[in-house]
Amino acid sequence: MRLAGKVAIVTGGARHIGAAYCRRLAEEGAAVVIADILDGEAVANEIRARGGKALALKVDVSNEADTNRMAAEAVKAFGRIDILVNNAAIFINIERHPFYEISGEEWDKVSAVNIKGPFLCAKAVFAQMKEQKSGKIINISSSTAYWGTPNFLHYVASKAALIGMTRSLAREVGEFGICVNAIAPGLVEHEGQNAPAELTELQLKARSIKRLQTPDDLMGTLVFLCSSDSDFMTGQSIVVDGGSVFH
Ligand SMILES: NC(=O)c1ccc[n+]([C@@H]2O[C@H](COP(=O)([O-])OP(=O)(O)OC[C@H]3O[C@@H](n4cnc5c(N)ncnc54)[C@H](O)[C@@H]3O)[C@@H](O)[C@H]2O)c1
Repeated sequence: MRLAGKVAIVTGGARHIGAAYCRRLAEEGAAVVIADILDGEAVANEIRARGGKALALKVDVSNEADTNRMAAEAVKAFGRIDILVNNAAIFINIERHPFYEISGEEWDKVSAVNIKGPFLCAKAVFAQMKEQKSGKIINISSSTAYWGTPNFLHYVASKAALIGMTRSLAREVGEFGICVNAIAPGLVEHEGQNAPAELTELQLKARSIKRLQTPDDLMGTLVFLCSSDSDFMTGQSIVVDGGSVFH
């Protein structure tokens, strides 16, 4: 129970890796706000059934009115905000194309959710974290940003943007006791994963640890970055990919 009494918002928490983050943060004692365009009630019910605290909110992270409501509802329900996990992204449903076939419209759609979303969510929780003089913001980037995965330029650029955002935001909010760090996972196997078989094979070959990555592989780093164990660490991006890319 390393996060007992803490309140965490996880965007994109209704399914897959985001839902796994919610379950684990709840197991560590945090009350969890599941903010997603999808219905997060099933994950919230699961957490409540195990004795935890959870609230599911319908939120589009690219919409500022929604992200402000998300922060307000979190405070109304649980009284504070200690952790923001910026996990929501357009990823699973993304179409992979050579860069010259990506339309400007598709580029804007990915950027609105994957870049503007984390910015708006950080902005929405800032006043509360500043008042508390503490907070942890964790941006979910991707090892694709270090690898430079082809046929995915809008997504890769969006995940690289989060590394810059993590560094820059860390410098702006450090004086208020707020830490901002990023996790860059490798290709994670879960039931919704639709990565081409060649990509999975390529990742396996490139990895130092020769096995598929699961959501569980990310949890130790997540809890560390959410807990006081990482209080003197900010602006950092941690690659958790079985030793595929190094930086
Ligand atoms: N799965 C992988 O291999 C992998 C690897 C590296 C990084 N990541 C990152 O991990 C995170 C989770 O990935 P996943 O595999 O679970 O993908 P996913 O597509 O299943 O999850 C994304 C979640 O975000 C939600 N979402 C999408 N648009 C939203 C919006 N506008 N507002 C609110 N919520 C929105 C979705 O409904 C979904 O629940 C993403 O940030 C992804 O980029 C995934």
